Amino acid sequence: MPCGNPLEIDALDLNGVFKRRNLTIAENRLKMQKAWFYEEYGPKEVLKLGDLPIPSPQPYQLLIKVHAAALNPIDFKLRQNPLAPIDLPVVPGCDMAGVVIAKGDDVSKFQAGDEIYGNIQSFKAEGKLKQLGTLAEFTVVEENMVAIKPKNVSFEEAASLPVAVQTAVEGFKTADFKQGQSVFIVGGAGGVGTLAVQLAKIVYKASLVTATTSSGKVEFVKSLGADKVVDYTKTRYEEVEEKYDLVYDTIGDSRNSYVVAKEDAPVIDITWPPSNPRAKHSSLTVSGEILETLRPCLENGKVKAVIDPSGLFHFSDVIKAFGYIETGRARGKVVVSPFPCNANGYCNT
Ligand SMILES: NC(=O)c1ccc[n+]([C@@H]2O[C@H](COP(=O)([O-])OP(=O)(O)OC[C@H]3O[C@@H](n4cnc5c(N)ncnc54)[C@H](OP(=O)(O)O)[C@@H]3O)[C@@H](O)[C@H]2O)c1
Repeated sequence: MPCGNPLEIDALDLNGVFKRRNLTIAENRLKMQKAWFYEEYGPKEVLKLGDLPIPSPQPYQLLIKVHAAALNPIDFKLRQNPLAPIDLPVVPGCDMAGVVIAKGDDVSKFQAGDEIYGNIQSFKAEGKLKQLGTLAEFTVVEENMVAIKPKNVSFEEAASLPVAVQTAVEGFKTADFKQGQSVFIVGGAGGVGTLAVQLAKIVYKASLVTATTSSGKVEFVKSLGADKVVDYTKTRYEEVEEKYDLVYDTIGDSRNSYVVAKEDAPVIDITWPPSNPRAKHSSLTVSGEILETLRPCLENGKVKAVIDPSGLFHFSDVIKAFGYIETGRARGKVVVSPFPCNANGYCNT
């Protein structure tokens, strides 16, 4: 069933999606949406599904009908503890793919109807994080944070990419990684690891890509393009023969993993704080441009979105989806789809 057009959005407050101001329309004309939110920090059970006002875009923002969203560890870390400036209640979620429904007057790159994807949350931005995340039927985002969804990539696949791809790219940039160098990726099977392995091989043309994972995922990580896979349940870092031009640690084990780095070679740790003072922390840059740059590799299928075989959860099963990612064992990404069409029903994306 096709999604209805929810464009008749009247003046709802945006900034504070939870506070309405300057309303010029009658109460009964307010357009509401389904959204997951939490009003207190804690385990996944603090999440509630409720009705919230649909936001309207600021002059520099797009209003998006979300078709799919992906979860990231930061979504549950922020829910468990007050790690970053953000007002409660919070609608979690950074990654999404969807359709532009409306735009602010200063938006120049996108039109209503465009299929776009991106990470809507910038942790490097000044001020507070957005209260309205992607686990809602509608969200708002600055146009420079999103890109046109590549052809041949589904909404679910597109939603799985932004945070992981932006993080993977940033690590190689921070290390000043050069074509033909070798890289040892600690944790090749997770959201970031699966992209780091593929980008190392395809975009950065590494001479040797080795990644670690547990026994059941060795063939999977090889299938992503790793030249060698180390089963960490059987082999310790000290037993790895080669030394590498870069150690790219996605699991926060730099206190141990540095031993596979060549002398003076960079050690990148994407977790905070790194467990080794020698390691450089690398934090993602949120930008639609990074996604746009990778578009050819995504459209020709050389770089693939990786969704965990059990990792597609209906919008109504968001708590189960968090339960799954919080095991720390996801293979690639955990994605939420389909989303509701409107407050009364669901539709396929
Ligand atoms: N700095 C940033 O900007 C940034 C951005 C994104 C994420 N992060 C952080 O980076 C970390 C990874 O994120 P993610 O999205 O990739 O997480 P994820 O998808 O949840 O990672 C799950 C994967 O980690 C692997 N893993 C767990 N322990 C391992 C070990 N000892 N050795 C090798 N692999 C292991 C698991 O494989 P096995 O089952 O085979 O162990 C699983 O496939 C998180 O802490 C996240 O918060 C930082």
